[in-house]
Amino acid sequence: MKFSHLLVPLSLALVVAGAPAEKTPDKKDGFELVGYAKENPLGETTGGKGGATTTVSDVAAFASAVAGNEPRTVYVKGDFNLTSRLRPGSNKSIIGVGSGASITGSGITVQNADNVIIQNIKISFILDNDCITLQNSTRVWVDHCEFTSDINRGPDYYVSFHVPAEREEEIVMLMCGAKDGQVDIVRASDWITVSWNYFHDHWKSSLVGNSDALRDVDTGHLHVTYHHNYWRNEGTRGPAGRFGHQHVFNNLYEDFLYQAIHSRSDNQVLVEANVFRGNTSEALSTYGLVVPADSPNTSPEGDYELDGFANLGARNDWGPATINITQVGNFTEVPYKYRLTPLKHVQEVVRAGAGLGKI
Ligand SMILES: *[C@@H]1O[C@H](CO)[C@@H](O)[C@H](O)[C@H]1NC(C)=O
Ligand SMILES: *[C@@H]1O[C@H](CO)[C@@H](O)[C@H](O)[C@H]1NC(C)=O
Ligand SMILES: *[C@@H]1O[C@H](CO)[C@@H](O)[C@H](O)[C@H]1NC(C)=O
Ligand SMILES: *[C@@H]1O[C@H](CO)[C@@H](O)[C@H](O)[C@H]1NC(C)=O
Ligand SMILES: *[C@@H]1O[C@H](CO)[C@@H](O)[C@H](O)[C@H]1NC(C)=O
Ligand SMILES: *[C@@H]1O[C@H](CO)[C@@H](O)[C@H](O)[C@H]1NC(C)=O
Repeated sequence: MKFSHLLVPLSLALVVAGAPAEKTPDKKDGFELVGYAKENPLGETTGGKGGATTTVSDVAAFASAVAGNEPRTVYVKGDFNLTSRLRPGSNKSIIGVGSGASITGSGITVQNADNVIIQNIKISFILDNDCITLQNSTRVWVDHCEFTSDINRGPDYYVSFHVPAEREEEIVMLMCGAKDGQVDIVRASDWITVSWNYFHDHWKSSLVGNSDALRDVDTGHLHVTYHHNYWRNEGTRGPAGRFGHQHVFNNLYEDFLYQAIHSRSDNQVLVEANVFRGNTSEALSTYGLVVPADSPNTSPEGDYELDGFANLGARNDWGPATINITQVGNFTEVPYKYRLTPLKHVQEVVRAGAGLGKI
């Protein structure tokens, strides 16, 4: 990485240095889109920009407003108990109003779509599926959302075991961790930014690449930027990547109980200026073994996968956590400009700026 890319945002640094924790980052400096969803071969993610604007406050209106591929900005107001997955088409901005909208019952699947923005929405207690699944989709920005459930029920409570025996293949997919995450990014999805989200009280957070069978499909894709996310009281996958590239910077991890960043199956991560606190056991691993705390296993000690790679950029604060880098990779720089929040300010800036009601 070039050092010229590590410019400290001056206004942000000044604001934070002189102020107590409740100061939010300067909006213009800290909250704009950065990373793979901004700078990529397809062009900047703009969502519904240039199209019509509508406000929805019931489930039927929400579902129809996000359908189709024409550009549209959909402001979302209130609480929605969905009975089936919301399936946005391309060119959509889906933005919770004010202190945020909430979704329960069923989550969001962005599938075969391009150019989607999701902001200021809480998605919680989704049984049998992910809060958000990005599948075969490009240019998606998931920003300032909140994802939560209940970690006390163990790693697989949010996975169905009610699938009939004749659908064994589906059970295997479920058990591989395909449908139990908060933001899962699969099937050659690409050019994604996941920023300023509050992920808490859930076991498996964010899986990138979900099956050995999709190695060839996924390889060369799955470029994801994760920055300024706040992970608290989580189990595994913050994120876990396979076959792709993830740039993980300026995130805060508190009580990330088992394993935070996991790079496996030839995946590459660039990890910098993150902070780990509380009861967090392993901050970063490239050892391929999927720990039993993550998934039902093919062997008692866990599921064996090939190792991944990790590169360390700007210094991280691992706190009490360990790291296990078995292979250093060649993912040493990203093809975009970004500003790092200075390490000593990450904790207060992320706590103050992540989640709902901030944009
Ligand atoms: C998205 O909108 C742009 C601009 O209107 C259009 O060119 C493009 O075809 C749309 N995408 C899809 C998948 O329809
Ligand atoms: C959502 O609706 C289902 C029935 O469709 C109901 O069982 C559930 O309690 C509702 N959840 C909330 C949070 O209202
Ligand atoms: C992926 O999405 C594109 C549209 O963006 C579609 O043309 C293609 O068929 C999809 N591929 C699969 C495997 O579904
Ligand atoms: C840390 O979390 C692990 C896993 O839940 C638990 O077994 C352990 O008791 C916790 N340690 C502390 C000090 O809270
Ligand atoms: C770290 O990786 C090595 C493989 O290189 C493995 O033997 C060891 O068990 C790993 N440590 C932990 C704590 O997982
Ligand atoms: C980076 O490392 C991977 C894994 O060893 C390798 O496949 C790839 O060719 C390397 N890329 C470059 C540009 O050297």
